[in-house]
Amino acid sequence: MSLCRICNASVREFFDFGHHPLSAAFVEPGDSGEEFRFRLAIGICEECTMVQLLEDIPEGRQFHGGYPYHSSNSTVMRAHFEETARGFLAKELTGPDAFMVEIGSNDGVTLRTVGEAGVRNLAFEPSGAGGGRVHRAFFDGASAREVRESEGPAGVVYAANTICDVRDIGQVFEGADVLLAPDGVLVFEDPYFGEIIDRRSFDQIYDEHLFFFTAHSVHAMAARFGFQLVDVERLPVHGGQIRYTLARAGRRTPTADVAGLLAEERGRGLTDSRTLDAFAESVRGIRQDLLALLAKLTEQGHSIVGYGATAKSSTVTNYCGIGPELVPFVCDTTPSKHGKLTPGAHIPVRPPRAFSEPYPDFALLFAWNHAEEIMAKEQEFRAAGGKWILYVPDVHIV
Ligand code: TYD
Repeated sequence: MSLCRICNASVREFFDFGHHPLSAAFVEPGDSGEEFRFRLAIGICEECTMVQLLEDIPEGRQFHGGYPYHSSNSTVMRAHFEETARGFLAKELTGPDAFMVEIGSNDGVTLRTVGEAGVRNLAFEPSGAGGGRVHRAFFDGASAREVRESEGPAGVVYAANTICDVRDIGQVFEGADVLLAPDGVLVFEDPYFGEIIDRRSFDQIYDEHLFFFTAHSVHAMAARFGFQLVDVERLPVHGGQIRYTLARAGRRTPTADVAGLLAEERGRGLTDSRTLDAFAESVRGIRQDLLALLAKLTEQGHSIVGYGATAKSSTVTNYCGIGPELVPFVCDTTPSKHGKLTPGAHIPVRPPRAFSEPYPDFALLFAWNHAEEIMAKEQEFRAAGGKWILYVPDVHIV
């Protein structure tokens, strides 16, 4: 039985994807070594309702493939982070000598925008990436203390697509408590479990997403660490996220949106077993439908290419059993992935130009979270008669 990473109560499993490789562990062709695999399974804490992966990747096995997230590759994401920065500048970083910290650098877009407005900022990023001022460390009590001593208190500690991957969240809260000014806020945005249920986006579940937050579970987690959930905001990016704003308990009045979302989650039974069981049933259905469609199209002689060698695609290909016999290659904009094979499924990754040489009949859109942007830039594919295959919320062709 697994224990909750937040409150130590028991976690009830509701889906087991089988043994998967690490989603960033792209393979060199010709490398015949056995790939490390772990059991990818998800459950819910019976006490605090935190949805989480059941298994830990053992120390030393965690794989950082050197594929840093380049938000500036996506115009939508770049605009999103610039907008985020402008929001903080208007609402939180208004005093003299304001200071903002980001956990992980996400390509540096947010802090660059903050810096351009003349506001002091610093990223905690162990790899040193990011472009601006970087403290080369994970964000925890000790590293926050060092920065507090040299820089003073921060008005905002912000993290995008990062907190859901942090094993020891207690350390993040300790760091935030050390570093934040009395009325400062800890703000983080990650995939929302409610959207995963609505969109049946089971591919958000992979090794680097340990937690799948809801307003309920974040509310409970905040209280446990002396903080309070004071605002929630829905974000359209990455297939539906929520931005959670936390302040020290009692320092701010929660917005009506917090009570609203808590009530909505309760009303729809977001984490009730019947909801989770129905999700599990849909995921099994998607696997069947997707495999049947790809097999039929292949048999009919149609060409199929994968679009986006995303981390999410590792869950799809490995859970569904999709290899190069069904999807001969996947194109991706990340140069360091080119020439490699996808983890486990071993589908070759090629540069974007391979997509049009010649255009395939069908493109399986693994990067569906960027669908609008990708479809807009690939209009020639459509004009050439190409069609997109999507598998969330169900298998369909557009
Ligand atoms: P991302 O949204 O980061 O998803 P994940 O977290 O599941 O990896 O996916 C980005 C990947 O998709 C990255 O490998 C680059 C690729 N990509 C393209 O190939 N073309 C595009 O137009 C976009 C936006 C992304």
